[in-house]
Amino acid sequence: MFIPLRVYIPFVIPFLQLAYSTKPDCHPDERYVSLYECSHVYKTAWSWTLMREYDIDVWRRDRRICCPPPGNRIPSTDICGQSPLVPRIVGGSDARPHEFPWMAMLLYLNRSSLEILPLCAGSLINNRYVVTSAHCVVGVPDDLSLKNVRLGEHDITNNPAYDPKCRNQASRCALPNLEVGVEEIIVHGRFNSSFLGRIQNDIALLRLKMPVRYSTGIQPICLQNPDPFTKSRFEVAGWGITNNGSFSRVLQRGVIREKELRVCAGRIRFLDFNVHSQICAGGDGGVDTCSGDSGGPLMATVGRMDNTRIYLAGITSYGSQKCGAIGFPGVYTKTSAFLGWIRGLLRP
Ligand SMILES: *[C@@H]1O[C@H](CO)[C@@H](O)[C@H](O)[C@H]1NC(C)=O
Ligand SMILES: *[C@@H]1O[C@H](CO)[C@@H](O)[C@H](O)[C@H]1NC(C)=O
Ligand SMILES: *[C@@H]1O[C@H](CO)[C@@H](O)[C@H](O)[C@H]1NC(C)=O
Repeated sequence: MFIPLRVYIPFVIPFLQLAYSTKPDCHPDERYVSLYECSHVYKTAWSWTLMREYDIDVWRRDRRICCPPPGNRIPSTDICGQSPLVPRIVGGSDARPHEFPWMAMLLYLNRSSLEILPLCAGSLINNRYVVTSAHCVVGVPDDLSLKNVRLGEHDITNNPAYDPKCRNQASRCALPNLEVGVEEIIVHGRFNSSFLGRIQNDIALLRLKMPVRYSTGIQPICLQNPDPFTKSRFEVAGWGITNNGSFSRVLQRGVIREKELRVCAGRIRFLDFNVHSQICAGGDGGVDTCSGDSGGPLMATVGRMDNTRIYLAGITSYGSQKCGAIGFPGVYTKTSAFLGWIRGLLRP
């Protein structure tokens, strides 16, 4: 009776393995091809993170992987700008985990103290590039250098991978985050940080060391809106300084409004505000971007219900010292003025 079982088992196991390998869990944006055919992953410097993310087997390079699009491709609205449908609240508050899955935290190493400091933010625009402001990478103190970009972050003090609470209550917890090195920093050629009266072209691109895989916690924001943003209502998010003057542990979100040009020109008198390449917003009191939010997104929501997409309308550039003070708006780099600049620089 039991003898046939022994005979069958060796046949059953290879069959199961075969069935498993033909059912990959690829994202809709990825193709299931051999590693050789996915040249932009194959040519990436191999690291443990790359091998883990793509499930690469060093000994079997002919095996198939989920291959993401090359880094010079801008995702379509089937992929980008998708946030879980949640009621959008006015006022600053904690974001839900992964409400803004394109948020990137820029991590700087202090070479003297070896501390890692999250001093700026950015937005993921495809699997290889993060957009941030130029002043986050130019003119930073000598002892600081930008090392990594952290994606899928929510609560700085808690990596859910190590939190036993999160194994039971999955829905209340964020997903583990992913840290990727920065391969290249590209700053706009006409950005000049030494002349403070004229902060223009405050934009930079970070090329990541490897293409990242999209998940619930990591997704790109939309870049190219077919129409100009007609609504003057924007959302901002960041881990920057909050009302009580300390950095925020949990990602904060808020709604701000675009201001008329004369409001900005009047309040920020000494600065040369350029309506073609900058947006002036905020200043209703309470909600604003602040120190540490620099480089992060000014987001515009377009469409309704399932067709809702979130676009990168602007990049946090500069503001008043008194963040969130009534009547003091902040200035954002207008992304639409730099779409050609961005597209021309993306590489596979
Ligand atoms: C880096 O660390 C050193 C030593 O602790 C400290 O004196 C310095 O202010 C730090 N630099 C920055 C920019 O935080
Ligand atoms: C930046 O602006 C200052 C003041 O106008 C000027 O002296 C300097 O040459 C400029 N630097 C660059 C790199 O354009
Ligand atoms: C800042 O405010 C938040 C929420 O109001 C609070 O949880 C946090 O403990 C406060 N931080 C400090 C340093 O007071």
